[in-house]
Amino acid sequence: MNDQVLLTEEQEGISILTLNRPEVMNAFNFELLRALKEEINRLRFNTDIRVIIITGAGEKAFSAGADLKERRTLSDIQVKEYIYTIRNLFTSIEQLNKPVIAAVNGIALGGGTELALACDIRIVSTDATMGQTETRLAIIPGAGGTQRLPRLVGKGKAKELIFTGRRIGAEEALNIGLANKICEPDQLLAECRQMAAMICEAGPIAVEQAKYAINYGLETDLHTGLAIESNAYWVTIPTEDRLEALAAFREKRKPVFKGK
Ligand code: COA
Repeated sequence: MNDQVLLTEEQEGISILTLNRPEVMNAFNFELLRALKEEINRLRFNTDIRVIIITGAGEKAFSAGADLKERRTLSDIQVKEYIYTIRNLFTSIEQLNKPVIAAVNGIALGGGTELALACDIRIVSTDATMGQTETRLAIIPGAGGTQRLPRLVGKGKAKELIFTGRRIGAEEALNIGLANKICEPDQLLAECRQMAAMICEAGPIAVEQAKYAINYGLETDLHTGLAIESNAYWVTIPTEDRLEALAAFREKRKPVFKGK
């Protein structure tokens, strides 16, 4: 893991990943993409970690998206490689077997907003600015923005935001459903940790299966979605955790889940 560009902290089942290039507003260069990819792949099989929080170093930015200084130096084929890498990375975050919370602590433009979109939940600082600004650079969102933004906020609003490249503040992000909630900058991480801690109280296999059913079920018709939900439910039935929850209820105590 490259601790120059990505900081990691693990505590009580929660991993906090901090994009650490504050001098360029945590913009993504190849090095940061590779470091994040390596860490996400590692976390997938780390059963001690139940929830991941992603945020940006410094007080100004979550991420200003693609590193435009690096971009200037890339050939056309290298730009293709970059887009392929960032799109697959964000998809692997969306498909991770545990919840990911974006702690949007400031500027989140282009790929910054796309990273937040690939996370399951977005908690946004009141001083944050979000936006898919790519068309202003004569390109389009290439890390999922044209697909995930309309799925979250609706086709019309997504088209408005992508065609104009307009930046929006936290209030508007909340109003259109881009942000789950907003909070003061100094409360942001505490708020995310609190939500993560609450998720940690739930059954890990149940949370994983719920994420799976929502993600895949939403991409199909209702009846296929219900079949996906049904199969996901079946996975929880033979688990020790399910029996533990019933025993804890009977004994009027908190359950202790093992993810088994
Ligand atoms: N890539 C590389 N460097 C970036 C960057 C990016 N996406 N965004 C910001 N930076 C760098 C700036 O070049 C500057 O470095 P410098 O001092 O060496 O010139 C530093 O970060 C601070 O940015 P600056 O522009 O001085 O701060 P600001 O508060 O005035 O504006 C932004 C911040 C993010 C609004 C502005 O930099 C911006 O519009 N960046 C581009 C964002 C974007 O369009 N992203 C989508 C890419 S597809």
